[in-house]
Order: sequence, then C-alpha cells, then structure tokens
Amino acid sequence: MAAIEQTQYLENEAFAQGMFALKAAAQKLSEPRFFIRTFGCQQNVSDSERIAGILIECGYKRCEEPAQADLILFNTCAVREHAEDRVFGNVGELKKYKRENPSLIIAVGGCMVQQQHIAEKLQKSYPYVDLIFNTNRLDLLPGEIAQCAETRGALIAPKSDRYSIVEDLPIRRDEGFRAHIPIMFGCDNFCTYCIVPYVRGRERSRSSADVVEEFKNAVAQGYKDIMLLGQNVNSYGKGLAEQINFAALLERLNDVEGDFTIRFMTSHPKDATKELFDTIARCKKISRQIHLPVQSGSNRILREMNRGYTREEYLALIDYARSVIDGVSFTSDIIVGFPGETEQDYNDTVDLVRHVGFRSLFTFIYSKREGTRAAVMPDFTDHKTKAQRLNALVAIQDEITERQESEYVGKTFRMLVVSKLADGKFEARMDDNSAITVEGDCQLNAFHNVTVTERTKKRLYGKVV
Ligand code: SAH
Ligand code: SF4
Ligand code: F3S
Repeated sequence: MAAIEQTQYLENEAFAQGMFALKAAAQKLSEPRFFIRTFGCQQNVSDSERIAGILIECGYKRCEEPAQADLILFNTCAVREHAEDRVFGNVGELKKYKRENPSLIIAVGGCMVQQQHIAEKLQKSYPYVDLIFNTNRLDLLPGEIAQCAETRGALIAPKSDRYSIVEDLPIRRDEGFRAHIPIMFGCDNFCTYCIVPYVRGRERSRSSADVVEEFKNAVAQGYKDIMLLGQNVNSYGKGLAEQINFAALLERLNDVEGDFTIRFMTSHPKDATKELFDTIARCKKISRQIHLPVQSGSNRILREMNRGYTREEYLALIDYARSVIDGVSFTSDIIVGFPGETEQDYNDTVDLVRHVGFRSLFTFIYSKREGTRAAVMPDFTDHKTKAQRLNALVAIQDEITERQESEYVGKTFRMLVVSKLADGKFEARMDDNSAITVEGDCQLNAFHNVTVTERTKKRLYGKVV
C-alpha cells in the first residue's frame, strides 16, 4: 500500500514556494484572470473550489469567458467514455484562444488525465496544452503553473505514487447554497467496471478534527446545506490513528451548533450498517434522503461487478432503514448493459426498482473503461438494446417519481429557500433534495414551512405557510 502523508500548509515547503512563485508570476500580468471548467462529480467540484482558492490568493480573478483568461483550467472526469469525449472536444476548442493569445496557459487536470494513455494522447495531439496536473496533489499546482509561466514549455506533472491528503489549502466555494466537504479520498473497492480507484488512488480519510473544523467554518459562513463527500463514506476512518467511523463522525457533526442539513455521498451498500441508519434516525440534522447506489438487481451481475452484496442484502438494508427512520427515501445509480447482462438480469433490475420505489435514479449505459476488469469481459448485447433498456427504465422511474410527488400535494414540509427567481418567486430545496418553486413571504437561505400546492410534469409548486 502506498504511503499516506498528511501535509500541512505551512509545513509544506513545495506548496509555500509554489505560492510565492505564482504570486510573483501573477504580478507581472496587468489583471490576471483564470477560467475554470469542471466536469464530473462533486469531488471534482470540491477540488475546483480549492484550485480557485489557490489562484485567488495568488492575485488571480475568476472570469466567466475563456477568451478573457490568462489561465484556462479544465478539471476532467473519466467515469464514462462520453465524459472523456466531451473533454477532448472542449480542449480542441481552446486552440483558437492560444492562437489569439500565445502567453495563455492551458492546464488540464483531474481523473481523465490521471490515466497514462490519456496524458500521452493529450501531449501528442494537443500540443498547445501547457500543463497536465494531478488533482491528488493540488499542493503542487501553484508551482507547476508558475513554472509554465516562466519557461513556456509543456509540463506533465509526475504521476503521484504517494497519495497524500493536503490540508489547509485556500478554498473559494462556488456561489450557491451548498458546501461540499470531502471527508475521504480514493477508493479501494475496484468494482469491475469502474476507473475511479485507478485515477483517485487508495482510500484515505481526513482526520475528524480537520473535517469538523471545515464543517464549523462552513456553518459560520452561513451554509445551511452541507454535503460530505467520499467514494465510499462508509469506510471513513479506516487507516486513521484515531478510533472513528462514519456514524461517529456524523454524530459529531450533528452536534455542531446551528440550523443546517447534512447530506453525504456516496454510501456503498456493502458497508452500510444498522449503526449508520440508527445514527441517522437519532440525528435530526441529517437529511432523510439517502443515496444508496445498487447498480443492478441481478445477483449474477452484482457478483460480476464485484459489488460485495446481494439483491437480498440490499433490500434488507432498505427495509431496516425504513423501520427506524421516519420519512426516509432513497436514490440510486444503475448501470444497464453491463457485459453479459441478459434480459432476465435486466428484468431483475426493473423488479428491484419497482419494489424499492426510489425517489429518483441516475441511470447509465455501461461504458467500457480501459484497464478495468470488465473491459475484457465478453459483451454480446448491442448498443441499441442497451439504449432501449435504459429508456424503459427511465420511463418506469418517471412513473414512480410522479406517484410519489403527487402524494406531496396538500402536505407541508420544511425546506431551504435557496434563490430568488426572475418572477419574484423563490426556489427551495426539500429535505429529499427536490427543487420546488415557492411563493410567499420568505427569506433567502433560511428554512421555511411550505405547503406543496401543485405538481406539473416538470415541477413542484408550493406556498409558504
Ligand atoms: N463511489 C460511488 C460511485 C461513483 S461513480 C459508488 O460506488 O456508488 C458514479 C456512478 O457512475 C456509479 O455509481 C455508476 O453507476 C456509474 N459508473 C461508474 N463507472 C461506470 C461505467 N464504466 N459505465 C457506466 N457507468 C458507470
Ligand atoms: Fe467506483 Fe465502486 Fe469505488 Fe464507487 S465503490 S468509486 S463504483 S470502484
Ligand atoms: Fe469522474 Fe473522477 Fe468523479 S472519474 S465521477 S470526476 S471521481
């Protein structure tokens, strides 16, 4: 196992020197500006918030148009082929900006370029990319950008063989009502379809003191919706010197003074325990909506995916959670068309979806990822059949969602008002995270009781009581 190091800002010499060099480089520009584009999941959003924090501390301002930038950064995702194609397309479009402004620095980082073959392809086919950076080592980023500014030569950050946790990086959260707080990084599960463990490295948890401190800061800054992040939050605490697990961390965060909702993503069913659900039942600041990705309803496919649980075990978890947590709801991720998935396997998934009655689903067609175990599994199903399966599943879930939301009408719920709309109404988020348009006397970024008055095909509507 790779060494885990905890790096502190002031003790981190490479970071301190990098910041010094980047501040000096920024001073040479009249109005240094950066543009950042984030692909992929919340983990990337969170990394981009730290990248923005670093750059703003060095004197850069964020801009919304790549044409105005001195520094363009892409933070990429590798989870499906489609995600990678989009990045290649977008990187291709940057060429024109480089032509217009040769001193522009183009930096591409994140999960996609943490694969060797992609880094090589970028270097070969997109020579105007100046820097390929590693989001597992954001402490090295300022020095790398400064070096690009100095030498104007392409630079590929070395692939990190040491997976560190870098604490105390500056952070500039995206405008919005939600604060993302990573509690652990990496993944050790190696689901056979998934690239994440290869690009994000081994699991490592932040100390509870660091998490609690960032959490308290977010609460003090006024965030009322706080999302804890990790590829498998249920393995939080493994490998730490302190004795702590995810349930205990949740308990501690729930005890923080203030009015807020705690969410988390993602909870792997194989490590979800009764203790976790008992804790949620006790802790009133934790959202009653739980994301518990099942991926498939077929035991054979679950085994091939290396998910580590059976359909029956998954359903037993749902039953247990429902027996202890009032008003709990579930969302899930599903992959259709995994190699070797038969009509029967797919029907097992449909059956499970109907049986559980998810609040919503994220559905994906299996995408082959080079280097994963599933990539070499025989796959006889054509894309058209897979697409049909996906569409049918989406239609089934739409019906379920419609049924659930229709039952909301006439009932009153506590929800967070998150923004003002152009027509004077407001947008709010229910505890289950659904968006709703709200009318009446309400304050932004505050919880209000709202009666749901209507549901159309697209949206829920409500009135403040
Ligand atoms: N750690 C999380 C998932 C992170 S990836 C978990 O275990 O639940 C988010 C979702 O992308 C996964 O849940 C899965 O449904 C989907 N996904 C991952 N790899 C995929 C692939 N190769 N093809 C299609 N979907 C994939
Ligand atoms: Fe990928 Fe599985 Fe890890 Fe989730 S738990 S990131 S799906 S390997
Ligand atoms: Fe994509 Fe990396 Fe997240 S592969 S889904 S950005 S962890």
